[in-house]
Amino acid sequence: MKVTPTQQILGARIDGIDLGRPLAEEDRDQLIHWLGEYGVLHMPNQDLTARQLRDFSANFGQLEVNVANTEQEPGLPEVMTLSNIVENGKPIGLADAGQDWHTDMSYSRMIAFTNVLYGIEIPVRDGVALGCTEFCNMHAAYEGLPDEMKQRLEGKTASHDFAKFWDMMRREKGSKRPPLTPEQRAARPPVSHPVFMTHPITGGKVLYCNPGYAMRIDGMDERESDETLAFLFRHQLQDEYRYRFSWTPNTVLMWDNMGTIHNAVADYRADERRLIKRCQVAATRFFAAA
Ligand code: SIN
Repeated sequence: MKVTPTQQILGARIDGIDLGRPLAEEDRDQLIHWLGEYGVLHMPNQDLTARQLRDFSANFGQLEVNVANTEQEPGLPEVMTLSNIVENGKPIGLADAGQDWHTDMSYSRMIAFTNVLYGIEIPVRDGVALGCTEFCNMHAAYEGLPDEMKQRLEGKTASHDFAKFWDMMRREKGSKRPPLTPEQRAARPPVSHPVFMTHPITGGKVLYCNPGYAMRIDGMDERESDETLAFLFRHQLQDEYRYRFSWTPNTVLMWDNMGTIHNAVADYRADERRLIKRCQVAATRFFAAA
């Protein structure tokens, strides 16, 4: 494998690997190391079936089956279709996945390690690819916090709720997602995680808090918690921490959910087709199940 860093705040391109073939242990370990170091990896010129995407992703930990239980690949519930394409009057995937800043699975007791996305159809207008995926670097965001904030939040936890992002998409973005059922809500009660996490690959500290799911700093009164979260959200989204990945078809994009937050940019129209297959990998290789 050959790695070419983007020379930006995040990101590297990986060449010289066919992800459709079984992954050697040393290549897996190298990719994990690079995920820690660069946060976001892209691997162009891949040709994968949904099963091959699932098998490649499973090298990195336990695969998540999304709680909303929608848009899964037939027979492969770990592979989700993210798409705005409508066929025979029926959407073929979740049209608005991830369209605001968040970290996948921070609402889960077992948090996410990596997302593995395979881009199949990418909208292009006037020669420019649309539907980019944006990231912010949470190692850098932690380092950039004022000392007073680092001290005040050291050892604190925040609660994260799956329903926060889902309800926001329905309320604020006109999403056609159905309301979560009481059973779906009960399946994902809020969970708490440290606001500052020691990253299991790099050993550095990261700001593990995100606008999509973080609800409350535990043990703070509501007003102080709201103000603190608003500060953290503004801080972590500053331009200096940002990296924007522009898709080409047949590219696999992987990122480290502990060291980054991300946002799927919805700048394309309904008739500009975007089709991505996605696996979400839990951080089971780093943390024991509770
Ligand atoms: C996600 O949040 O996993 C979706 C990202 C994307 O579609 O660009």
